[in-house]
Amino acid sequence: MKLAGQTALVTGANSGIGAGVAKSLGQAGANVVINYVTKPDDAQAIVDEIKGYGVDAIAIQTDVSKENQVQNMFRQAVEHFGTLDILVNNAGLERNAPFHEMTLQQWQFVIDVNLTGQFLCAREAIREFLRRGPRPDVSRATGKIICMSSVHEVIPWAGHVNYASSKGAIKMLMQSLAQEYGDRQIRVNSICPGAIQTPINTAAWNTPQAMNSLLTLIPYNRIGKPEDIGNLAVFLASDDSDYITGASIFIDGGMTVFEGFATGG
Ligand code: BGC
Repeated sequence: MKLAGQTALVTGANSGIGAGVAKSLGQAGANVVINYVTKPDDAQAIVDEIKGYGVDAIAIQTDVSKENQVQNMFRQAVEHFGTLDILVNNAGLERNAPFHEMTLQQWQFVIDVNLTGQFLCAREAIREFLRRGPRPDVSRATGKIICMSSVHEVIPWAGHVNYASSKGAIKMLMQSLAQEYGDRQIRVNSICPGAIQTPINTAAWNTPQAMNSLLTLIPYNRIGKPEDIGNLAVFLASDDSDYITGASIFIDGGMTVFEGFATGG
């Protein structure tokens, strides 16, 4: 129960990596706020499951790219739980297109959710951490922020320029925040997942041919699962990682060691 007595807010927590992370944090003893935009029934199912672990959970519908909605979500969460200790900036999406055909709307939508959403949520979280101050009874850090990045913060991605640009920017958002608030004991880190089996990349794993071609990119030879990411999120949220801040942690079965170079070159 490494996170007992703490509260986490996870954005985009009703599916995929967000749902996996929310469950792992709940299993580690944290109360959890499940943020979602669509599919309230899925959010409620995650809330019910997490409550089964003996902690509290609530679902809040919020578009993370909208300032007033984000501020309302944090207000509601703090009203319910008293404060927040952990933010997992997870909500993200893809709108893929060849670059010369990409519309401004496709570009803007991805930047709004993936990048501006992380800005708005991190800002509210840091405001709450500064307002509340340290809680040495539950954690050495005054607050912890985990940004969901991607292997595509370092691997360029043709046909996904908007997405890769948003993830590259998250690296600097995360590191600059770690630098700015380190002296206030706020830790900020990124998780950089490779291919994790979730709805965002269904086309990459839902036929044997697609899965085989995906596995040629993964030295460890399996697709990742949301619980792989959940385990890392618990570590980064807990005092076990108290000396880690400003780090991008890759969790990708080796995707970033460029399997294509296993032979040749
Ligand atoms: C993307 C997935 C992709 C994975 C590896 C993730 O950030 O969202 O669609 O499968 O990177 O390329």
